[in-house]
Amino acid sequence: STSPTSQAPSAMNTTAQRLPGAIIIGARKGGTRALLEMLNLHPDVEVAKAEVHYFNLDENYHRGQTWYRAQMPFTSLGQLTVEKTPGYFTAPLVPQRIWEMNPEVRLLLIVRDPAERLVSDYTQVLHNRLQRHKSYQPLEELLLLPNGHIDPSYKALQRSLYHLHLQRWLSFFPRQQIHVVDGEALIRDPFPELQKAERFLDLPSHIEASNFYFNSTKGFYCLLSAGHDKCLDESKGRPHAPLSRQAFHKLCHFLREPNQRFFKLVGHTFPWC
Ligand code: A3P
Repeated sequence: STSPTSQAPSAMNTTAQRLPGAIIIGARKGGTRALLEMLNLHPDVEVAKAEVHYFNLDENYHRGQTWYRAQMPFTSLGQLTVEKTPGYFTAPLVPQRIWEMNPEVRLLLIVRDPAERLVSDYTQVLHNRLQRHKSYQPLEELLLLPNGHIDPSYKALQRSLYHLHLQRWLSFFPRQQIHVVDGEALIRDPFPELQKAERFLDLPSHIEASNFYFNSTKGFYCLLSAGHDKCLDESKGRPHAPLSRQAFHKLCHFLREPNQRFFKLVGHTFPWC
């Protein structure tokens, strides 16, 4: 069947834009795009393609819920709307704002080794700056103080202190309402992670192992659905900016205690550095 508008998907009963029933809140560079695209394989899921940045940016938040809803895809009744904005996880006001919208909304948090995440985060900022013909300091200059110690105020490091952020979410939402996805596991073998996400979202199991194939040129799994073949764009899985072994080691040492705190909060250990 043909779409009544260019925005609406093909089914005839797609009638309305609805508030999300599930939100991927982060972590930035954790694999949020891959998770969103993979959930979108499910016939009962429709996703907001672009990051919405509603709860974390005051200029959007003050536009109100009508604006927010207008950013959502068209769905039929019974379909689940999902949006992802990685900046939500670390923005102080967001847990309360989401809770005020819907205290029952399901939250997904995808995490990866926070040291790797930091390097990926730096690499993204570096690329954005280079695109705008701006220069940027080497990572080591941002990460280390002149005395050689880790600079705890470096923004990308702050974003890797998962326990600090999760603690804030847990003062509004019960632990069971936040599904933690292992970002490294999603890279290695996406299907089992997607099955767990389907269960968390109470979706009938529809996503299949055959929806994923390893693309050796890309070096990652890509998606196959209804004859369409889709890999994430080149901004995902790009080479990381260099960091000396010694500095990486200091970073890992610094993160040891924050990581332990995070494991305690989620009730699960990850094999991070
Ligand atoms: P790197 O670019 O550091 O490798 P986000 O979408 O939150 O920005 O996360 C980007 C990360 O998703 C990438 O980080 C990449 O490792 C990871 N990722 C997970 N599954 C992927 C997939 N199937 N294809 C490409 N990247 C994937």
